[in-house]
Amino acid sequence: MTSAAITGWGKCLPPATVTNDDLATFLDTSDDWITSRTGMKERRISHVGVSELAYVAASRALAAANMNAKDLELVVLASCTFDSMLPNASSKVQYKLGAKNAACYDLNTACTGFMYALSTANALIKTGVVKNAVVIGAETMSQPIPWMDRSLSVLFGDGAAAWVLEASEDGSGILAERLGCIAEARDILAIDYGFTPPGEPRNDLCHWNFQGQDIFKKAVNAMAKASIDVLKEAGLKPSDVDLCVPHQANKRIIDAVAKKVGIPAERAFVNVHRYGNISSATVPVAVVEALEENRMTPGAYVLMPAFGAGLTWSATLMKWGDRTLPYRQSDVELPPCSDSGLELIHKIMADRGEPLPTKP
Ligand code: ACO
Repeated sequence: MTSAAITGWGKCLPPATVTNDDLATFLDTSDDWITSRTGMKERRISHVGVSELAYVAASRALAAANMNAKDLELVVLASCTFDSMLPNASSKVQYKLGAKNAACYDLNTACTGFMYALSTANALIKTGVVKNAVVIGAETMSQPIPWMDRSLSVLFGDGAAAWVLEASEDGSGILAERLGCIAEARDILAIDYGFTPPGEPRNDLCHWNFQGQDIFKKAVNAMAKASIDVLKEAGLKPSDVDLCVPHQANKRIIDAVAKKVGIPAERAFVNVHRYGNISSATVPVAVVEALEENRMTPGAYVLMPAFGAGLTWSATLMKWGDRTLPYRQSDVELPPCSDSGLELIHKIMADRGEPLPTKP
C-alpha cells in the first residue's frame, strides 16, 4: 500500500535570542518564574517574515531529501502569522525555491497547523493526487505579541521547519491520526486583528484573549485522549512508542500528557527551553532536532500530539523510515542579522507606535 514517507527535513531558527533574564529587564518577571511554570529559558526573534523562514527550512528539507525543486508537486505552509492576507505565503516559497510545478496552499489551525498540513499532504499522496510534497510550519509569533504583557510575552518565539514527503511502498509514514476541535471553547485563546464582522466595533490591533489555566487543562486532556486513541487504532501499546514528540507549549503540559498516556519521561522529546512555543513549528523543529541528536532510530514509532487555538487538537502516529541522515546540506541561509533579540523587540514596538519598554 502506498504511504507518504518522510524523506527530507530541515529547520530555520532566526539567530537573535531573548533569554528570560533579557525579558526581566523590562517586565516584572524572573528566570525562576518562567522556568518553573513553563520550562522555557530562551526564544528566537525573527528579523525576516514567515515566508523567508519557511523558504530556508524548505530548501534545507529538499537538500536532505536530495530532491530537485522542479520535481516538487506541492507546497503546504502552516502558520498563524502570515506576512500577507493575499497572495498566500506558500506561493512565495514556491517562487523562491523555483518549484515551478508545485501547487501551493496555506493552512491555519494555530499550534496544530503542521499536523493538519501533514495530514492533508499525506492524504493527497496516498490518493495519488501528488507524488510528493514539502510541508512547512513557520511562525513569527513575535509580531502579534503584546510585549508588555508578562503573562503572554514570555511564552512564544519564532522559527520554522519543513519535511519532504514522498510516495513510498516501504510502510513508513503516518500509521494513524486523529484531528478535532473544541469549538465551544474557541474564545479562550483568540487574537483579534485587522477586520471585524460588519456591525461590530473595530478591535485593537492584536487584542489577545488567553485563559492560560483553562487552555492548559484542555490541552492535557485532549492530547492524551487523542494519543491513546491513535495507539489503539494502530494496535500499539504506550511501551511501543520509541519517541513522543509533543507540541512544545509548556514543559508541564508535556510531562502531564506523557504521564497520562503512560510514556516514560525519557521518551518524550523536549526543546521548549530553547525556543518557547513556536506554534505550528514546534513539532517539526523538534523532530529535526531529535534526528540531529540521534534520538530517532530507523523504523521508530513516533507519537506527536498537538493542541492549539480553535481549540484544535490532534495526535499523529508515524513510523520513521530507514534513513536518519540527510542526503545533502543546503547552502541557503537567512540574510544576516545585526540586531539583538531585545533590539528587534524594540523595533516591533516602535512600528506599532508603542513607547519603548522601561524597567518596572
Ligand atoms: N512572571 C511573573 N509572574 C507572572 C508571569 C510572569 N511572566 N505571568 C503571570 N504571572 C503571575 C500572574 O499575574 C499571577 O499572579 P497573581 O497570582 O498575583 O494573580 C501568577 O503569576 C499566576 O499566574 P497563572 O496564570 O495562574 O500561572 P500558571 O501557573 O497558570 O501559568 C501559564 C501560566 C504558563 C500560561 C500556564 O497556564 C500555561 O502554560 N497555560 C497553557 C499553555 C498555553 O496556553 N500556551 C499557549 C498556546 S496554546 C498551546 O500552544 C497549547
